[in-house]
Amino acid sequence: SKNILKAVDAIRQGKMFLLFDAEGREAETDLTILAQAIKPEDVKLMRKDGGGLICVALDPVACEEMGLPFMADVIRSANEYSTTLGTTVEKGGDLRYDSRSSFSIWVNHRDTRTGIPDNDRAITIKKLGDMVEQVLAGNKVNFGSEFRTPGHVATLRAAKGLIDERLGQTELSIALARIANVTPSMVVCEMLDDNTGRALSKEDAIAYAEEHGMVFVEGSEVIEAYNIWTTNI
Ligand code: 5RP
Ligand code: ZN
Ligand code: CA
Repeated sequence: SKNILKAVDAIRQGKMFLLFDAEGREAETDLTILAQAIKPEDVKLMRKDGGGLICVALDPVACEEMGLPFMADVIRSANEYSTTLGTTVEKGGDLRYDSRSSFSIWVNHRDTRTGIPDNDRAITIKKLGDMVEQVLAGNKVNFGSEFRTPGHVATLRAAKGLIDERLGQTELSIALARIANVTPSMVVCEMLDDNTGRALSKEDAIAYAEEHGMVFVEGSEVIEAYNIWTTNI
């Protein structure tokens, strides 16, 4: 559809766009942008107009190379430090909108100080994108020499089978990046409603997109396009 082509264009041009998952899932809209294109102003827009968590979705192949695990697995295996930790991990059926979380570790780039200002988070995000590019080009990288944890940017590890396996914005945004043929590392941040404190409704998200000249695209459109794209390569 037309929206998809516009979203692919937006990704390539480093422009922010809106990505809704699905009615039966979170039913949330994320402000989304290519990690390598991030500027401090984009972080500002995400925290002011989005208001959710600013996260970086990462390609699963790159995560494997960089050694980034799922946070749930890390915590589950940390009983040595605290027997509470293992009991806090999500159980099957525990997440109301999916079978598991995509969270990996929280990081700051070592060039940042506290890690939270717009400029700091932009550096961390840009460098994550750059490392994904390096790793997928076949170059050796050392994650720990560039990033420290705990930090202020959440990384999200996309499922190996991408949208065949999971349909969160984590996988949807990475699928879009693959279609766009850019480095598969995408920044996402949920849009919340300032009046209710709840997730911004789909209607209001569409209105926001129109007002700001941004593209609004939803999961079903990404799935359709990705399936066509994978059968054509
Ligand atoms: C991180 C989240 C968001 O919902 C984000 O969209 C990624 O998660 P998912 O892939 O599960 O949709 O929980 O703030
Ligand atoms: Zn979520
Ligand atoms: Ca989501």
